[in-house]
Amino acid sequence: MSEDIYLTGITTTGTPHIGNYVGAIRPGIAASKDPAKKNYYFLADYHALAKNEDPDKIARSTLEIAAAWMSLGLDTDHAVFYRQSDIPEIPQLMWILTSVAAKGLMNRAHSYKASVQANLDSGNKDPDKGVTMALYSYPILMAADILMFKANRVPVGRDQKQHVEMARDMAQRFNHHYGDVLVLPEPVIDDTTAVLSGLDGRKMSKSYNNTIPVFEPEKRLRKLIMKIKTNSLEPGEPKDTDDSTLFDIYRAFATDEETAAIAERYAEGIAWGEMKQVLFEYINEHIKPARDEYERLIADPAIVEAELRKGAERAREISVPYLDEIRRAVGIRPLG
Ligand code: TRP
Repeated sequence: MSEDIYLTGITTTGTPHIGNYVGAIRPGIAASKDPAKKNYYFLADYHALAKNEDPDKIARSTLEIAAAWMSLGLDTDHAVFYRQSDIPEIPQLMWILTSVAAKGLMNRAHSYKASVQANLDSGNKDPDKGVTMALYSYPILMAADILMFKANRVPVGRDQKQHVEMARDMAQRFNHHYGDVLVLPEPVIDDTTAVLSGLDGRKMSKSYNNTIPVFEPEKRLRKLIMKIKTNSLEPGEPKDTDDSTLFDIYRAFATDEETAAIAERYAEGIAWGEMKQVLFEYINEHIKPARDEYERLIADPAIVEAELRKGAERAREISVPYLDEIRRAVGIRPLG
């Protein structure tokens, strides 16, 4: 049995927030330090185009996400850390996969179906209104990301599970036609990682505009934490730790003992204002060293650029010869 190969992709839209940190960045960084695992991490900037964002925002997000992973301690000597658009073999493989991807399979993609449903709900005559081919083919590009590096294990959230299964389907069809060339990937879903609520109590998400960015400057971080929604219980009234966004966020950062101590204070009726101050101080302390490093990187993006190029070189040691093998398998070969 060959070793497991893990691959994690991060779409370059938005600024990393503490929900991303707890759910994906922190576990990803821990995994990058495991000498027994081969890990690929990349910035999915071509995927970002599917959302037709402002070009400057995509560029900024690419820098922020790369700087965040680096400053939080991603081991880029052991793990391979690169930018999708630096690997021209990925879009080439995507085209090859497009020839084995069933259109009917793409019709069933959740993200595409959600767009169609939104059109139907708002009474649009055209169910495909606003749907670009990039949105429609998104799962094929994602399959190319995964299959390009022979990744067999792909850590994702539940929302991305179907995409990994589609990649597996494409790999299977490919191998059926062309022989055993591609590795079948499997989604890895960790149900133990916390899903954090945001400022308004709904799931923390860029689309709800309720996030707390990881590297918000101290003053802004405090201001945001003060905005977190609570119930209207008065100081001195016992409070429930269930269903408390403040408590959930605290627990995601603190040790078990510290969390138990705070639960005690809830029972004693800690005032919400005080709990917010406790949470702010805790997170601020926790994040400060990384934030200093993050600010250094943001101020000097050439450092980040160099790191990504180094990663791309390492990634291409795999992708260049492997794409050649794949092209030969489909009949694209030197003639003599
Ligand atoms: N689509 C993923 C997301 O939005 C990001 C991504 C792109 C990805 N390519 C990938 C994740 C390959 C895992 C493997 O979260």
